[in-house]
Amino acid sequence: MVKSPMKKEAYRKHFQERKEWYDRVQKDPMRLQYHIQPPMGWLNDPNGLCQKDGIYHIYFQYCPFYPELGSIFWGHMTTKDFIHYDEHEPAVYPDTQWDCNGPYSGSAYQENETIYFFYTGNVRYEGSYNYVTDGREQNTILVTSRDGFTFSEKQLLMKNEDYPADMSRHVRDPQVFRENDRYFMIQGARSVKDEGSILLFESEDLIHWSYKLRFQPEKPFGYMWECPNYLKIGDRRFLFTCPQGVPRDGFEFANVYQCGWFSLDYDFKGENYVLGAFHSLDRGFDFYAPQVFQDEAGRWILFGWMAVPDAGYEEPTLARGWIHALTIPRELYVNDAGLLCQRPLKELKRLRKEKASGKLSEGLKRWTSPCFELKFLMEEGAEDFELHLRESVVLAYKDRVLKLDMTGCGSGRTVRRLKTEKLWKLQIFSDTSSLEIFVNDGADVFTSRIYDSMENLQIRMAEGKIQGTWEYYSL
Ligand code: FRU
Repeated sequence: MVKSPMKKEAYRKHFQERKEWYDRVQKDPMRLQYHIQPPMGWLNDPNGLCQKDGIYHIYFQYCPFYPELGSIFWGHMTTKDFIHYDEHEPAVYPDTQWDCNGPYSGSAYQENETIYFFYTGNVRYEGSYNYVTDGREQNTILVTSRDGFTFSEKQLLMKNEDYPADMSRHVRDPQVFRENDRYFMIQGARSVKDEGSILLFESEDLIHWSYKLRFQPEKPFGYMWECPNYLKIGDRRFLFTCPQGVPRDGFEFANVYQCGWFSLDYDFKGENYVLGAFHSLDRGFDFYAPQVFQDEAGRWILFGWMAVPDAGYEEPTLARGWIHALTIPRELYVNDAGLLCQRPLKELKRLRKEKASGKLSEGLKRWTSPCFELKFLMEEGAEDFELHLRESVVLAYKDRVLKLDMTGCGSGRTVRRLKTEKLWKLQIFSDTSSLEIFVNDGADVFTSRIYDSMENLQIRMAEGKIQGTWEYYSL
């Protein structure tokens, strides 16, 4: 037995009945000022990212009536400049027997003026099941669009039976790309032996897919991998994924679920490939399920979900009718050491209002609204410091360890650390309830939600020995 699908008309009726809820959310002072957040209710992964005819489409996992009604949709925002966003009605509904418990995550592939959206149709049976090896379907579904606003009928491409025989029922989050004049699809997977991997399928027509191989390190690394992404910058190839079930290891893997990248050496022909070491994409408390896409200018752009599922932190916005947000958009690049790095998109400079700057050796003391950008440039490398970013939030550098301490905020978020021999640059984006800290030009990032007093906020750091400059912008 499965839940009955929810069609667009039913969504509209539920929305009209809850218009007051929507209006209340729009006025909430805790709303973020320059991030994508749910119009109401719940948001998770970014989906279907693409640019068509100059317009960026950002879809996302959206449960507008959460926690009252559980149906997942694809929410939809558009922008031309990453400063102004337009909100639209949900784009994809749980309205067929293949996705009646949610059109889960998926991505966009473009060819011949058509956007092909591949996503997972989630179906959950009611009854007593373990929901790992039984009780659910994860169907691979295609919808197409010529403009990002109107969509074709849904087409079922693959069912669980079409995935390799040793897979559990958890196979999802397709991404499609072209290599060697052929189409490839990757999907995140959990095997019946509880080993995470990325499955690779191949096709000649985007419709008929056959399994080719799986990407997996020699030693198993977690029981499930979600949200794979493939990208190629110059001649370097990378795979992203979100492994679940990786134990903590010192400062590494401190969150309940992980998110990171491998370099990939593979020609998309034979069976042999080499996966490099796993690098975490983020060191903060709240980063998961990122998606990357290439825009019309050829930039690789990333949005992440600013949360980690099952993290158990307090989210005070929930009582105000909404929960979660996406990160700021970031451009990916490869640095001289061959590391995949993230930089805030250059468009975000247009958020800047008032500017101030000074020498780090003289310290820093500034009253501010919670929306600001702060940059430190320290060519010789940083000396020890303690930078207060909120009443109870301290970013400290000591003994070559950069530490974000949010213990005082009381949301369950405590301390995250990163060992870094030379700290030469920091760029911090603060919004009403978020912090994104780019370390050494994005070689590492700390992303976190932050719930602290927004009144009489002062950023401060004592004077000291650090050579370099700071720049502050109100946003
Ligand atoms: C990741 C994820 C995906 C899934 C989606 C469902 O956060 O679990 O694997 O498609 O969220 O909302």
